[in-house]
Amino acid sequence: MFLHQASIVLGVTGGIAAYKAADLASKLVQAGATVDVVMTEAATRFVGPLTFQALTGRPVHIDPFRLLERTEMPHLSLAQRAHLLVIAPATANTLAKLAHGLADNLLCAVALATRAPLVLAPAMDTDMWEHPATRENLEVLRRRGAWIVGPGEGRLASGRIGRGRMAEVNEILGTIRLVLGRDGPLAGKRVLVTAGGTQEPLDPVRYLGNRSSGKMGYALAQAALDRGATVTLVTAPTALPAPVGAERVEVRTAGEMRDAVLAAVPECDILVMAAAVADFRPAEVVGQKIKKEAAGLTLRLERTPDILAEVAVERERGGRPGLVIGFAAETEDLLRHARAKLEAKRLDLIVANDVSSPDSGFGVDTNRVILLDRHGLEQALPLLPKEEVAGRIWDWVETRLGAQEP
Ligand code: PMT
Repeated sequence: MFLHQASIVLGVTGGIAAYKAADLASKLVQAGATVDVVMTEAATRFVGPLTFQALTGRPVHIDPFRLLERTEMPHLSLAQRAHLLVIAPATANTLAKLAHGLADNLLCAVALATRAPLVLAPAMDTDMWEHPATRENLEVLRRRGAWIVGPGEGRLASGRIGRGRMAEVNEILGTIRLVLGRDGPLAGKRVLVTAGGTQEPLDPVRYLGNRSSGKMGYALAQAALDRGATVTLVTAPTALPAPVGAERVEVRTAGEMRDAVLAAVPECDILVMAAAVADFRPAEVVGQKIKKEAAGLTLRLERTPDILAEVAVERERGGRPGLVIGFAAETEDLLRHARAKLEAKRLDLIVANDVSSPDSGFGVDTNRVILLDRHGLEQALPLLPKEEVAGRIWDWVETRLGAQEP
């Protein structure tokens, strides 16, 4: 299930990290989820319920005895409605109650009554986190199938530095997406995505590179996780955090990317080469920083390995990956060049990427592409956020996988 289709119950318990739960509520709502917030009494001392009500546009639930005023029982209706229950922050006290099945407040009653997956983001001081009681409670909850995210290390409310900080909101959000997507249409499929622009060293401080930000490749990796795939992301340097749940393999040069891709390909079902791989690299890497005394400088370049061409050879030998998707970044004659690459690199799909306009291609958040496949498909998409372009590419994959099934 996608986040924008999901009904999420967000439990907030009484810790200083409760203020970060407001950001989580806001991001969940922005992603299109329906969010019902349940607060413990202690949580209301840290953040006002009105904050959550304003962010979610829905009433906030606190008192289990509200059922006396209404016909429905809030703990049961919330428990049944939820596709996922996330408790952030989860205090040591609440973890203990959950581990022992107590239901002395509305949140614990919901947790006991729901069959929805449970995501816990513990937050507490290091001593409480390290206490054997907390460790054992957490182990019980983990064994029962709860997903634990964090805590991280850093500065705590007490001023100490240690483990106990609630995980970052994006990490919690990523875990929620992972859990919701785990039975999706790509469940059981192993996907390899490449992203970013390779850097070819010239001397110890300089390199030849390109303007790829990695946004397209990371969006593809996240969208595959949302659909339940197991994802390996081979990435050239970028400023982006890895999507939660993806195995990230960091590389720098075209040669390193080639090695990482060829090592992973025998285990993968689908390869998407979204990376902007350098076609040429300096023939010699100078050992010391190049000085500027000379009036000019001539660089001799040599070809880098063509990764997709090598994958095609491997594929003919071993049959994997089942589907290979490439991109064609072009500034002119888009369709002709893309079709030639589809053929030459023996791809199943090529994403013809018009990089001539400022709102499409390298660095920006949007892309304008045409999908061309080896069965004659030619689907021009409008300018779309890269997340949506990624979704359309995985839609194509799902259709192809469906067509391949006996
Ligand atoms: O990262 P962003 O800022 O979000 O930008 C996205 C993007 C523009 C980088 C991306 O959408 C894109 O178009 N990627 C491919 C860029 C590119 O290198 O295109 P190409 O036409 O040069 O290469 C064709 C295909 O061969 C690509 O799939 C490429 O990954 C692959 N290739 C290229 C060179 C090489 N030595 N080996 C390869 O396998």
